Amino acid sequence: MPVSQAEIARAAALLHAGGVVSFPTETVYGLGADGTNEAALARIFAIKGRPADHPLIVHLAGADQIAAWACDIPAAVWALAERFWPGPLTLILRCRSGVPDLVTGGQATVALRVPAHPVAQALLTAFGGGVAAPSANRFGRVSPTRAEHVWQELGDGPDLILDGGDCPVGLESTILSLAGKEPVLLRPGHIPPAALADVLGKPVELPDGNAAIRVPGTLASHYAPATALLLADAEALSAVVTGLVVRGRRVAVMALSGQLSPTGQTVAMPADPTAYGRDLYAAIRMLDDGRHDIIVVERPPRDEGWLAVNDRLERASGGSAG
Ligand code: TXA
Ligand code: MG
Repeated sequence: MPVSQAEIARAAALLHAGGVVSFPTETVYGLGADGTNEAALARIFAIKGRPADHPLIVHLAGADQIAAWACDIPAAVWALAERFWPGPLTLILRCRSGVPDLVTGGQATVALRVPAHPVAQALLTAFGGGVAAPSANRFGRVSPTRAEHVWQELGDGPDLILDGGDCPVGLESTILSLAGKEPVLLRPGHIPPAALADVLGKPVELPDGNAAIRVPGTLASHYAPATALLLADAEALSAVVTGLVVRGRRVAVMALSGQLSPTGQTVAMPADPTAYGRDLYAAIRMLDDGRHDIIVVERPPRDEGWLAVNDRLERASGGSAG
């Protein structure tokens, strides 16, 4: 494990004392506080600049702790936990009374997840309770997948940043709601809908933009870099880049099919969606450094294997297909 037991113990003590600790998960870095401590939770929102009605995910060491947060737990939860926890799956369940409004966003539901990363597991085990944690970026910005990204985003806002190296998944967890009559996918992630449906024995509804459920991660402009980001189909890529360059734009390209831009910086992205997802935020962050006017991204295939990557790219481009 990349972090010492002494650092874990210090981090757990900080959480008990109302501190805010950034820690690695297998998806992205989180910004954590004791999920029962209102003052500590308020600091998360202040550090991120996040609106107070946007709910947080509670991270637990194991599925045996969910009854402390959720009620009316459907049997499907145990089957999903058995198959996918610890791992990059967040479940939305009906909430027990007494969970702070800053965790639930004032809704009757709570988001729970048991992360697999050894540092997160060690921290949650040492702490013993639920750690509420959003991604450790400023509100609306790209999630950090490396400790140095957390530092770039938040500086010395957190009391401690645990450095667990690069996050192996790189995209935020799959969010599945089991709080209603039918299971609904609220955010695509590494675990595909078909794998969830397989365990549930029924199909999973895809998000329909129902405004009654607030999921800020589904705002069209979420996850955006400061530099404009444009999605271009593979066939149009070189014409789009050339057109921008002749108009004097400083263009960076994230290419998939091996087409390299003759001008400007090109990053060759992996052809496999899992590897692409792992590298995506670091690549955007590298190109979003003020040296380019626009990042042109070659659009990946529109099939289910690319669902999570395409979702994040659409959001990073402001919801417009360019
Ligand atoms: O992979 C992840 O999920 C990372 C790591 C740190 O665990 N966390 C993360 O947190 O992505 P955050 O806050 O950036 O995104 C959590 C999403 C938000 O879109 C939030 O609205 C949604 O989960 N959420 C939380 N509680 C909810 C609830 N009760 N109902 C519906 N959506 C909820
Ligand atoms: Mg986030």
